[in-house]
Amino acid sequence: MEIRIFKNRKIASEAISQLIIDSINRKDIKNLGLATGSTYQYTYYLLRKAYERNDISFEKLLTFNLDEYLDIDSSHDQTYKNYMYKHLFKYVNIKDENVYFPPTTEDNEYTKYDKLIENKGGIGLQLLGIGQNGHIAFNEPKTSFSIKTHKIELTESTRQANKRFFNHQIDQVPRYAITMGIDTIMRSKRIIVAAFGLSKAQAIYRMIKGPINEDCPASILQKHPNIKVFLDEDAAQLILKGDVLNDNIN
Ligand code: GLP
Repeated sequence: MEIRIFKNRKIASEAISQLIIDSINRKDIKNLGLATGSTYQYTYYLLRKAYERNDISFEKLLTFNLDEYLDIDSSHDQTYKNYMYKHLFKYVNIKDENVYFPPTTEDNEYTKYDKLIENKGGIGLQLLGIGQNGHIAFNEPKTSFSIKTHKIELTESTRQANKRFFNHQIDQVPRYAITMGIDTIMRSKRIIVAAFGLSKAQAIYRMIKGPINEDCPASILQKHPNIKVFLDEDAAQLILKGDVLNDNIN
């Protein structure tokens, strides 16, 4: 794992967006895995700005999102698909037919998403956030490391964390979601994890220094061969208290 610690989320997001722009322009990746939530909102804003400056084109890019809520109306502004259009897709030249989300049809054939990703050549670069309980995408604690795309019941802690997007009303937060599995995520050729703020410090500590087990889904990332972690100083607080790493502050 390469760990980079920045003074704040703004500077970290600038580094992340530059890495994405360079990867697309150098044609290192044709398939980009995307995350929703607050962590990458500024990164997506910077990608829009880069597109306006003609620094990047999304014309040939395919995107695969990590997850999607299930029990929510498709017109709701908090579906992850609507999130992506609101924050990025509607401003850039990505083609609608190149935008992919996990299947939300109730046919239990969710692993067709894994096959689709594989048939399209695999994910070149996957953006990941992390939940306060160590979840990645919506793979909650205790989810098997070998699982592919699947349906999941969200934990109370995740619904509490996400109620800020639903007028702070827990009852409005969906209970189920479809998520790429941990196996799906680990097959990505490169991964970026970003985390900002004190509320992520413990999850980041467990991801980097904790034992690798299913109590902390993100701990499996220690085994990925090509992963970069972008943190602000708050999210890095506990790993910095420990030891090492201090030589790597940007
Ligand atoms: C959410 C999403 C994840 C996201 C993570 C962190 O519940 N399912 O894909 O990366 O939890 O969210 P945030 O960036 O809002 O902190």
